[in-house]
Amino acid sequence: MASEKPVLGSIALKSVMALTGLVLYGFVFVHMVGNLQVYSGPEKINKYGALLKSLPPLLWGTRITLLVAVALHAVAAFILWRRNLAARPVGYDHQNFQAAKVTSRTMYWTGPMIGLFVVYHLLHLTVGSVHPSFSHTDVYSNVVIAFSNPAVSLFYILAMVALGFHIFHGSVSLFQTLGLRTPKYEKPLRAVLLVVSTVIVVVNISFPIAVLAGLVRPVAS
Ligand code: HEM
Repeated sequence: MASEKPVLGSIALKSVMALTGLVLYGFVFVHMVGNLQVYSGPEKINKYGALLKSLPPLLWGTRITLLVAVALHAVAAFILWRRNLAARPVGYDHQNFQAAKVTSRTMYWTGPMIGLFVVYHLLHLTVGSVHPSFSHTDVYSNVVIAFSNPAVSLFYILAMVALGFHIFHGSVSLFQTLGLRTPKYEKPLRAVLLVVSTVIVVVNISFPIAVLAGLVRPVAS
């Protein structure tokens, strides 16, 4: 009996992952650049936050795009994961990880970990329900007070390391899906993607470290 063909082929699902991954990668990069304003002091970043909130179509357009991208990315990943499992119902006795790099083996747990981080992060710095003294207008103090807690900072740092692994492997896969990962460009491409992912991780990790080190301080009252 011929097996039924799935409605969406694996190539289509991988294309969904590539396209939504690109949107999310772009957001993470732009968000990182915006957060750099913490280093210019409270006035700059608070004005930036107020500006974003004063443009509801931009704010809500971005939020809805991100929500749709995250949902499609997660659903496509889940279907591909189920298909991989079904294609290999008996676990390997002895897995050979030589070819699969650490980053590619970790995709299926760094993904959910980032999802949990984002939920916490939204409750923490956007809604404020898990923040000890949240202000809807003082983004600077929200960040400084948040990272003054070493446990919270450590959690952010670990999440950023997971994010780094995920976006590095994800971006390599994206080029493969687009058919642009040719032998000639393999090495320089990987090098560029590694540098960009590392910059994102290092800059994001610098925020909690700068607060803990006293380089970014609370506003004197
Ligand atoms: C240490 C690194 C980060 C810092 C300091 C940071 C800081 C912030 C702050 C202060 C806000 C609230 C902005 C406002 O109310 O004006 C925010 C919102 C947000 N952040 Fe982050 N963030 C970091 C990393 C990330 C990462 C890695 C992601 C995604 C994977 C992310 C996703 C978001 C989202 C989705 C929002 C909500 C934007 C909205 O209002 O719709 N953040 N972040």
